[in-house]
Parts: sequence; structure tokens; C-alpha cells
Amino acid sequence: MYSNTNSRGASTPAGPVSKVTVPEIRARKTRGPAIAMATAYDFTMARLVDEAGVDLILVGDSLGMVVQGLPNTLPVTLEEICYHGRAVARAAGRAHVLGDMPFMSYQVSPMQAVESAGRLVKEGAFESVKLEGGEDVAEHARRIVRAGVPVMGHVGLQPQSVHSLGGFKVQGRGSEGAAKIVRDAVALEEAGVYAIVLEAVPPDVAEQVTAAVGVPTIGIGAGAACDGQVLVCTDLLGMSRGHAPRFAKRYAELGDTIVDAMQRYVSEVQSGAFPGAEHAYKENRPDESGSQRVTEGVRVVGLRH
Ligand code: KIV
Repeated sequence: MYSNTNSRGASTPAGPVSKVTVPEIRARKTRGPAIAMATAYDFTMARLVDEAGVDLILVGDSLGMVVQGLPNTLPVTLEEICYHGRAVARAAGRAHVLGDMPFMSYQVSPMQAVESAGRLVKEGAFESVKLEGGEDVAEHARRIVRAGVPVMGHVGLQPQSVHSLGGFKVQGRGSEGAAKIVRDAVALEEAGVYAIVLEAVPPDVAEQVTAAVGVPTIGIGAGAACDGQVLVCTDLLGMSRGHAPRFAKRYAELGDTIVDAMQRYVSEVQSGAFPGAEHAYKENRPDESGSQRVTEGVRVVGLRH
């Protein structure tokens, strides 16, 4: 049974829930355990992800592909990230909620980056922000951090640069490629980021980066040497259809489960098996005036009365 309230600061049967903080995430580099991060884009998914004990929930610009069906993340706007952020923040009682800075919301100048990060915090209810890039955006990250907003970096494959890269390709190959990623990560650490996502790099390169910086690295397609891992929720839950990246381990096949449930629903509606008597309200009696509650015991979120 659950309630429909924001669980920030709320109690569970086991006691009060405390939020995962930026200092705690930093400390995991030396203290462990490894950081578990996942994306979520709405209240219902975020509540389940939070309940499962995921440390950070990312409202990624991957929502362009996952939620909007776009071929890449480039059209996603700051307003869209904020809209999804507010929904996710309402659900996250424990997990730290982090928002992606979308394409062209920070690249123009450090000033633009600070303004956009401020909007993500004020309008999206985010607790920190993530931006793609290394040395080129280090000054932008520094200015955001100075303004009081924690920043996570993102190096290796940077999906916002898909056109320059010629596709979503593994990065950091060759000694110069690897050295560039290490330089990018070090520049971000010097700028004050609290963690760095390493996307689609060979495991030995991720190991070098993880050893070179004092902040946690969070890998996606970067092997086991990182201080944490991140996956897109629909990939790890087996809801994605078509081509999936090699690193996206499927912990469930919810896509098949959903299709199966929907097929049974369609079939029962067509046969008349649904709704049964147990899904209907009491028969109307002329002498009764009180109204029966729409829900009994449990508050069902999203039900239209
Ligand atoms: O947008 C996103 O979901 C991301 C993760 C894949 C790290 O940036």
C-alpha cells in the first residue's frame, strides 16, 4: 500500500528516509558501495526506481528518444527537462534527482550555462545538473558550481555531438583518444564537478580515468572499473524494442509483460469477461443516498473520478 504524497522527508515503516546528498556521492569513491544510477522520466517510474534503492535518478535528455520517439537527443528543450523533473522530484524520497542540460542550453557561454542550470533547479526541482563535454565546457561547469549548483560531467561518447562523431560510436580508442578523455575528466574535476559519467569507452580507458580523478566515475558501456553504473530505465527493464546497445543488460522483460497484459485486456473486453461483478460498484437502491468511494482502502493515482 502506498500514498500519493511526495515522499521527500516522509517516513517508511522502517523509519525516516534521508536523501542521498552530493557529499555522500563523492564519498562513495573511497568508501563504497558502488553508485547505482538510472534514468526515469515520470512519477510512476521514479517512485519504483526510488523504492528499489537507486542512488541517483537522472532525467536524461535520452527522454527525446525514450519518451518522444526522436532519433537523437538534440531537439529536447530545457522546458521539457523541467516538466519531467518536477514529476520525478515528487516521487524521489531518497534518490538524488539530477537533470540533463539539453543541447544548446549551455554551449553558448558560461553565462548561458549558469542561467540554464538555475532554471533547472528553480523550475525543474533538480538537485544537480549534468552537462556533456570536457575541457571545452570546464569553465561553464566552474561557473555553475560557483553559483551553488552541483554539476556532474559527461565524457567519452557525448550523444549531443552525434553529428560531429558520425554516429553513436565508442570513444577513446588509441593512445591519443584515451589521453583526451583523461584530460577532459581532469579538467572537469578541476572545475569542481562532483562525479563524471563515462559513456562508451573501452574498460581500460575507464580504469585510467577512474584512477586519474578524485571524484566518482559512473560508467555506461565503460566496464567494471568505474565507481558506479548508469542505465536507461527502459533498457534495463526490457521495455525497449529494436536495436539495444551491447552494454544495456536487461534485468526484466517488461515490454513482453505489458504486451501480454494488454492482449489479455483486449481479448476480455471483446469477449465480455471484463469487467466482472468485482470491478463494478454496488447496485443502485432507491432508498440509498450516500455515495460509495471510488477507491477502497488504497488511493489510486491518476484515477479519474
Ligand atoms: O540522457 C541520458 O540518459 C544519459 C545517460 C545515458 C547517462 O545521459
